[in-house]
Amino acid sequence: MRILSVVGARPQFVKLAPIATAMNAHAQHLIVHTGQHYDEMMSDVFFKDLGIPVPDFNLGVGSGRHGKQTGTMLAGLEEIFEQERPDWVLVYGDTNSTLAAAIAAVKLHIPLAHLEAGLRSFNRRMPEEHNRVLTDHASDLLLAPTEVAMAHLANEGLAERSSLVGDVMTDVLFRTRETVQARSMALPAGVDTGEYYVSTIHRPDNTDDPARLSQIVDSLARLDKPVVLLAHPRLVDLARRHGLNLSTGAISVAPPLAYPQLINAVMNSAGVITDSGGLQKEAFLLRVPCTTIRPETEWVETVDLGWNVLVSKDLGSLTAVVERPAPAPTTATPYGTGVAAEAVVSALLGGR
Ligand code: UD1
Repeated sequence: MRILSVVGARPQFVKLAPIATAMNAHAQHLIVHTGQHYDEMMSDVFFKDLGIPVPDFNLGVGSGRHGKQTGTMLAGLEEIFEQERPDWVLVYGDTNSTLAAAIAAVKLHIPLAHLEAGLRSFNRRMPEEHNRVLTDHASDLLLAPTEVAMAHLANEGLAERSSLVGDVMTDVLFRTRETVQARSMALPAGVDTGEYYVSTIHRPDNTDDPARLSQIVDSLARLDKPVVLLAHPRLVDLARRHGLNLSTGAISVAPPLAYPQLINAVMNSAGVITDSGGLQKEAFLLRVPCTTIRPETEWVETVDLGWNVLVSKDLGSLTAVVERPAPAPTTATPYGTGVAAEAVVSALLGGR
């Protein structure tokens, strides 16, 4: 069997890693990188650290407006799919690369599988929400990470095509945690174990409006411990355009980290403040309290279990929320036990 994976953005490289390993023994696996993320620290370093094979194709699409970026990928992917005619196209998550590959596959009648199917924020302002809903409805096989995701798919009439496989990011995280613990890695510069926060902010809703970004930065600057702000290129770019200084008060700005360094930084921190999807879950799995600067989350289990608190409109409460008392311990495993990639490969090979 020939399976072709399409990835393009940082979180997709993380999801690809355990799939590429699990695929090894069972199927011929081709990898296409759209080039949506292209900086060394946003792309190459993940392939190296996570032992992902070099992609068979790289479209080198780069940044751009949503329509042009997605359209350019679609045109490039169509050619590759036509040439390779895989048994499955496998797409990951909710980025523009996901949607472009889904459209290209469905137009060529190539079976399409969606990993991380069924997640919903129900926020139609998010580009990721359009991407994931459209991709789910185009897919022949929906690989869902959680029971909640399965329920969303059933509500949309997609139960027949859905399969609960667990969360592949949990696979990577557990494996990486072992490596990190064995290696005793350095913490980000200038901070002590348990005495700092890790933050990432990159979503358009938080970065595009100068007043909102400035309010977020002000709140982080006032926190009771140093904040290591791991700055996505989008944040750096927009802060510069808004004339906003990010290195203020408690905040120290650092470039994005490689995956093992990120896990190490989160594991040893007092808390995470983010608008990323994956980081909320990683914090939960490492049992580090998280504060999410968004009105909703797709990873509702992190909130229900008390490890994640959402702050959106009332940014004035951000400091108090971050400095809240530690949540009650839990042994719940809503994201599986770290063996999702094997389940994905079995589903693709035949038995759902
Ligand atoms: C994309 C995904 C988002 C995901 C995020 C992870 C979409 C719609 N969004 O958002 O779901 O959470 O990736 O990081 O697909 N840039 C660089 N170098 C890079 C990549 C980007 O400088 O390697 C800059 C460019 O200025 C670019 C901006 O970041 O315009 C945004 O990049 P883009 O890929 O459009 O979206 P992200 O915000 O990264």
